[in-house]
Amino acid sequence: MKRQFADNELDTSLSRVDGNEKVSGAATYSAEYAVPGLVHAVLVTSNIAKGSITAIESREAETAPGVLAVISHLNAPAVPGWPALKQPAERAPVGTAFRVFYDAFIYFDGQPVAMVVADTQERAIHAAALVRVTYQQETHQTHFERNVKSAGIPQNVQRSKNSPFQDYGRGDADAIAEAEVRIEAEYTIPTQHHQPLEPHAIIAVWEANDKLTVYDKNQGVKSAQGQLAQAFKLPRDNVQVVSKYIGGAFGSGIRVWPHTIAAVMAAKQVKRPVKLVLGRDQMFTSVGYRPYTAQKLRIGASKDGRLHAMVHEGTGQTSMYEEHLERTVLATRAMYTCPNVSTRYRLLPLDVNTPTWMRGPGDATGMFALESAMDELAFALKMDPLEFRLKNYAETDPERNLPWSAKSLRECYKLGAEKFGWENRQIEPASIRRKGMLVGYGMASSLYGFHRHPSKARAVMRADGSVTVQSATMDIGPGTGTAMTRIAAKVLGLNAKKVKFELGHSNLPDAPGQNGSATIPSVGSAVHVACEALKSKLIALAVKMSEAGKSGGQVVVTDGQGVRNGRVFGSGADDEGVSFADILKYHKLNELEATEESKPGPERDQYSMFSFGCHFVEVHVNPLTGEVRVVRVVTCADVGAIINYKTARSQSIGGVVGGIGMALMEHSEMDHRFGRYVTTDFASYHIPVHADIPPIEVYYVDKPDVHVNPMGSKGLGEIAIVGVAGAVANAVFNATGKRIRTLPITPDKLI
Ligand code: MOS
Repeated sequence: MKRQFADNELDTSLSRVDGNEKVSGAATYSAEYAVPGLVHAVLVTSNIAKGSITAIESREAETAPGVLAVISHLNAPAVPGWPALKQPAERAPVGTAFRVFYDAFIYFDGQPVAMVVADTQERAIHAAALVRVTYQQETHQTHFERNVKSAGIPQNVQRSKNSPFQDYGRGDADAIAEAEVRIEAEYTIPTQHHQPLEPHAIIAVWEANDKLTVYDKNQGVKSAQGQLAQAFKLPRDNVQVVSKYIGGAFGSGIRVWPHTIAAVMAAKQVKRPVKLVLGRDQMFTSVGYRPYTAQKLRIGASKDGRLHAMVHEGTGQTSMYEEHLERTVLATRAMYTCPNVSTRYRLLPLDVNTPTWMRGPGDATGMFALESAMDELAFALKMDPLEFRLKNYAETDPERNLPWSAKSLRECYKLGAEKFGWENRQIEPASIRRKGMLVGYGMASSLYGFHRHPSKARAVMRADGSVTVQSATMDIGPGTGTAMTRIAAKVLGLNAKKVKFELGHSNLPDAPGQNGSATIPSVGSAVHVACEALKSKLIALAVKMSEAGKSGGQVVVTDGQGVRNGRVFGSGADDEGVSFADILKYHKLNELEATEESKPGPERDQYSMFSFGCHFVEVHVNPLTGEVRVVRVVTCADVGAIINYKTARSQSIGGVVGGIGMALMEHSEMDHRFGRYVTTDFASYHIPVHADIPPIEVYYVDKPDVHVNPMGSKGLGEIAIVGVAGAVANAVFNATGKRIRTLPITPDKLI
């Protein structure tokens, strides 16, 4: 196995601090808490996509063995945060999150219509099958292409002049007609589902009717706490959310979903702790998805390869009751230097559940189209696609006319091209064959916005000099605890073994949820400043000791104090320092604590901040079967300073795997006669497995971005997937001469 980092970078990396717990089964996931008196809920879901419930026959279910309750809109406990039902009831206006068991309306196939609570999960499943629901059915519309003419400007955008989703233009979009070389193409991405291996699950526990604890799979304990407190009209502190271990989420856990509210309702109704675990099939209609999206791109350049105009129009799918907006066309404004740019974004409401953010939302979708179009135009120009991108490299942000806080994309391109051997690429498609396979090389750029939110962290040193750092942040898989441990250990000059990081509980210091690749920039900064504050306190106490002559003269008062190996040092050359434990002991302290908040400042208005990257991909295509194998990937990123190489590399690999899934496999197929997904298991919804994934080489520029935060680190999670699907499609074109503009690139499209 080739090593992509210098030995010391990997050797000084921390392995996952919770790795042992995870692989040994000791880690407790949301559905695994042994709460006394626990009972089980199972959802009954609609089998029509539009209409209303006319009757629910539940007597047989209610009298089945072990059943405690059958809950539906007919008898559900009130959710006090929801408006009283209008009489006569009307369909929810656009902008209303779906309210479970609220009224008789059906908005999508798979909508929860009832819930059975029983003493065992098996009995609940059995009784759920006995509930008979009758409907008055209405004609549904779920087919994107057939309805795309009904797409319009989102209401949200109509209301907000400053929305980034407003139509955008710089220069003159009509200038496309004058471009010497131009292409026009349409790209389509089907609906895709996150499908983390751990299904969404919750245990809801009421105490004395006004205190609620949930063990819930989500991506933000504080945000879930706020949403639940609001729904059930409770003081925030009366709601506690515990989400210590998450088996993947990819965006599916950013919101509180209807099944969460349903479980809390059930626990209230039966006055027992209730567990609800979604079935794999229910994961397709309960926790959002990447929306079906169609994009049209027209881009043109001068003969020497300078971009002249880009026109990017995107239309995404949403539900009838809620608008979900994505950055689909936004990257096109900032990625390349181009004088004439116009973008337009539209939404198409259908009788489906609401989509949500998934793995580089919008950007992964938009950059598939943009980077495919760039490849198409490079081919029309007979120019190397990398050279074409370099020719249009944006030295400043062409959208906001601001300097980048830092941008080393050029170094990424260079590093990636060298490591990959890009110079061996042939411009003419289908010109390399190896062992009967068509060989293709493709590349694409990547960018992802920088997100930093106010965050708090608390650092507590114990009498023995060890430190616990706490923040209500999350780890949905990237290794948050490991990275935070690394930050704290570095600031405090402590061995990482002496640092413990606690996350995933709403009673910890306030932090944002884990999304938008914002955790290191936000929470990492809070951990950094909290540990800096603790360090200052330690040094001040050491100085007092020194002044009292109690440090053996080892700490110099005047200057140069610092920390190393668990000791405070002065500036003297033969200074032996004084240990943290001795400082606390001398001052008779059991512990020393610092809590700090960190937030972004005016730099946001002075600089344009992005993570950048690029991917190089080699594919082999079987000319007889059309099967595409990705055989090699080199991915490079410029995300500022790397905190911990081992977990960073693992995140980059994960992103690329997601990109390969998006490019070649993932596709939620619907039977439009019923408005129902039919690919609702892993036999039919394909995600990459080990056999599908080649060696992935990961490289970083690893240069701190001094403007973004104290560590100089930007987000890493999503930059790794954005662009990958484009790079794969471009490699497939290079291998076969066939341009596939509709994902996934399955064999039927190539033969
Ligand atoms: Mo991510 S889609 O911001 O979890």
